Amino acid sequence: MKKPSDIYILGIESSCDETAAAVVKNGREILSNVVLSQIDIHRLFGGVVPEIASRNHVQAVDVVTKRALSEAKVSLDAVDAVAVTYGAGLVGALLVGVSYAKGLAQATGKPLVAVNHIEGHVCANYLTYPDLAPPYICLLTSGGHTAIVNVRDYEQYDVVCSTVDDAVGEAFDKVARVLGLPYPGGPQIDRLARQGKPVYPFHSVVTSNGNFSYSGLKTAVINLLHNAEQRGEKISSADVAASFTCAAIDGLVDRLKREVVSTDAHIVAVAGGVAANSYLRSRLADMERCGLRVCMPQLSLCGDNAAMIASRGYFGYINDRFADLTLNACPTLKLRGEKPHH
Ligand code: KG4
Ligand code: ZN
Repeated sequence: MKKPSDIYILGIESSCDETAAAVVKNGREILSNVVLSQIDIHRLFGGVVPEIASRNHVQAVDVVTKRALSEAKVSLDAVDAVAVTYGAGLVGALLVGVSYAKGLAQATGKPLVAVNHIEGHVCANYLTYPDLAPPYICLLTSGGHTAIVNVRDYEQYDVVCSTVDDAVGEAFDKVARVLGLPYPGGPQIDRLARQGKPVYPFHSVVTSNGNFSYSGLKTAVINLLHNAEQRGEKISSADVAASFTCAAIDGLVDRLKREVVSTDAHIVAVAGGVAANSYLRSRLADMERCGLRVCMPQLSLCGDNAAMIASRGYFGYINDRFADLTLNACPTLKLRGEKPHH
């Protein structure tokens, strides 16, 4: 039974290749979390095809939303607000969720909350750790973003450093592709790396001014494979995957440690699709010691989902931050202080 003081947020997410809807209670308790992945469709093309993603979102968004409400056993009437991802992401994909959420809000008279997808990823931590509260430092590692974020408050996300070119997830996907692994490559590399040894030394992904760069690492892997092929040498894909993984992750963890020391932080969190990586999780677990708490969202909440969007939407809702019907998709939406790239 819903208490009068309980806030139910319906979250809707369609920024890339997952159509998702969820109902979250008081920003921290998942009542339902429905994710319809299009991965099987896009795998045929070796990556996400934007128009196909949009068309599939159009078909799925209403079904997924109704399922989220029914699994939560919550009527639309009992929902306090609709929260929707409006960026960053693929413009056509975002427009489906945004238009649907606007229609729903208009038809029901419920308030609409616009959510930054990346801030949503950070909020996945509140769903795993109901007692977690800012301030803390968050390592953000997704397919489109790589940054260390100072989470000063529930609505204040300041980027400390970020990638100057590719995102870490993008690098995983590209290296997987050159190794002949299917899309999305991150989980495949993760599995393969566990069978190999990090025998190939790659340069650090941390730049001289403390940001990240992944384009050089990607090129180094391609060159390694190319040179071996030219010499007719057999090279172990598992060793390449392990070497790449260490280089891709160690720099993130080292830079995170530096930030923890220099700011005397007591809590660190991780967020985004790459937060599911087993090597990253083991390196972060090693950081846990007296005085430092390490938070990692449960695996099902690392990738794109709408529960994290509903959680972020809750904090917007309680601060009266409502969107109106002029809300539009913002494909290049950034966090404060994030570097523009690409
Ligand atoms: O956050 P996310 O679901 O979508 C974006 O907002 O971008 O991140 C997707 C990325 C993909 O690049 C995928 O390959 C990567 O996360 N990923 C992983 C793992 N699982 C997903 N990368 C490394 N290891 C994993 N286990
Ligand atoms: Zn994401």
